[in-house]
Amino acid sequence: MATIIDGKKIALEIRDELKEKVSWLKSLNIKVPGLVTIVVGDNPASQSYVASKSKACNEIGMLSKIEKLPAETTEEHLLELIDHYNSNDDYHGILVQLPLPKHINEDKVIERILPEKDVDGFHPINVGRLVIGKDTFYPCTPNGILELIKRYKIETSGKHVVVVGRSNIVGKPVANMLLQKKEGANAIVTVCHSASKDLTRFTKDADILIAAIGKPNFITSDMVKDGVAVIDVGINRVEDSSSAKGYKIVGDVDFESVSKKASFISPVPGGVGPMTIAMLLQNTFLAYIKITKQKLT
Ligand code: GUN
Repeated sequence: MATIIDGKKIALEIRDELKEKVSWLKSLNIKVPGLVTIVVGDNPASQSYVASKSKACNEIGMLSKIEKLPAETTEEHLLELIDHYNSNDDYHGILVQLPLPKHINEDKVIERILPEKDVDGFHPINVGRLVIGKDTFYPCTPNGILELIKRYKIETSGKHVVVVGRSNIVGKPVANMLLQKKEGANAIVTVCHSASKDLTRFTKDADILIAAIGKPNFITSDMVKDGVAVIDVGINRVEDSSSAKGYKIVGDVDFESVSKKASFISPVPGGVGPMTIAMLLQNTFLAYIKITKQKLT
């Protein structure tokens, strides 16, 4: 039976560590890190994500603000708001919740955020720095995955990591992070995606399998080898008449069967999910340190 990776517990540990650091800043009566989250429109999932992010900031004593803009907000107005926070010393991190309404160019918005305040790690400068192994902001979900792998002492060096999914938010960055020649990485990485023929040929060879495809229970036990470490990034809503909400959340991995073969497995919920917010707080703290240091030199 697999060791269950407890992302909730690790995320809490990280949040507690950060809370202590923020308390120390407060005790010295100096500015604390601040995060502004911008959300456009009334997508319920986006509203709920930004509320959780803001609540987490407040819980550890960081400054937090949510800018809620109506769906019909113009691109120009959004860009002006980003400019405002780019030059606002109280906010060290700026996060624009995606997706944006169709009339707004997402690339333009991401590129408007100062790379030093880009706590999502989505700005092309930060993505480029990640690929060439320079100091950057690691995107929150991939960073959470690497942190789980590290804290559970799962060996990556020389191991075959198979990533299923090639999104800009998870698949591509996590693959590039694990490829770096450094501790906690140094892996052989294969990225599979929707056009991959005979997916099982790859997944069966994985020492570590990262599933980020957005298909409920897609990875089944016949697709993995004995002893694989499985990280499930999926958050899928499936109908469940026994639940009061009428649905439940499941991952991309069929936990029931795969956990019988795996050495480690992250559950959904309670695995990667809670790590994403913890890493966002960590990136905001990092942005604060970098900006403050820059000012002092
Ligand atoms: N939408 C879904 N995931 C994310 C994320 O990590 N950051 C932002 N900004 N939007 C998202």
